[in-house]
Amino acid sequence: MNMLRFTGLVLIIALAMVSCGPQGKPAEKITKLVIASDATFPPMEFIDPTTKNVAGFDADLIKAVGDAAGVQIEIVNTAWDGIFASLEAGRFDAIISSVTITEERKVTYDFSDPYVNAGQVVVVPVADNVTTAISDLKGKKAGAQMGTTGDLEIAKYSEIEKKTYEDIGLAFADLAAGRLDSIVVDAPVAANYVLMAPDFSGKFKTVGTPLTSEFYGIVVKKGNAAVLEILNRGLSSLKSSGKLDLLKQKWNL
Ligand code: ARG
Repeated sequence: MNMLRFTGLVLIIALAMVSCGPQGKPAEKITKLVIASDATFPPMEFIDPTTKNVAGFDADLIKAVGDAAGVQIEIVNTAWDGIFASLEAGRFDAIISSVTITEERKVTYDFSDPYVNAGQVVVVPVADNVTTAISDLKGKKAGAQMGTTGDLEIAKYSEIEKKTYEDIGLAFADLAAGRLDSIVVDAPVAANYVLMAPDFSGKFKTVGTPLTSEFYGIVVKKGNAAVLEILNRGLSSLKSSGKLDLLKQKWNL
């Protein structure tokens, strides 16, 4: 093969990689997306006790994105631990799970346009008069969901004893039982546990101002431009129609 033909071939392959999904389909040929979500994070994603389906802000959002972009959506409940590895293994097309867009994650995955701003906050028992900021937690125990940005935030303070959990509900159970002094978690989830979680309401409070400013994005496998294009098309239509704002109101974000 001469050099010119070789370069041509490389170009064709590169173009095909840019415009096709993992199944090699261009965006117009994709009719259905399988989306993973760790449904342990109310009000963002949780299992509806009656229907047993994944419900919450993210479920509503991804269904609306599908409607707007003209693709069918199937949501699969998937544990946070391993959710990114399963995406890479091609087990689903995307993750919607309150995933914060971070520089580190952007190296390995691609993100949709941002759809919600939610920083980390500190939650303590309501009777705690000492803690007004994360720096008051030195020598005490702080909990987070393993591998989340809350986990990373606590890790910045070597004097704080960090305890991580498979899911944030277990951390709140430990906080209620006095086995933890605080939790660092996304603001909407903190608000849900402080105000609404039936077993816990009146037991906890949020202290100080948010520690971070974080934006959620929908995650796809690196280079999956076809699925990304569908997701961003849907998102942008929900942004301009005002539907995204309505969903935020519905779920108190
Ligand atoms: N926003 C945080 C992060 O991206 C926590 C997300 C956890 N989501 C969940 N469904 N458990 O690290």
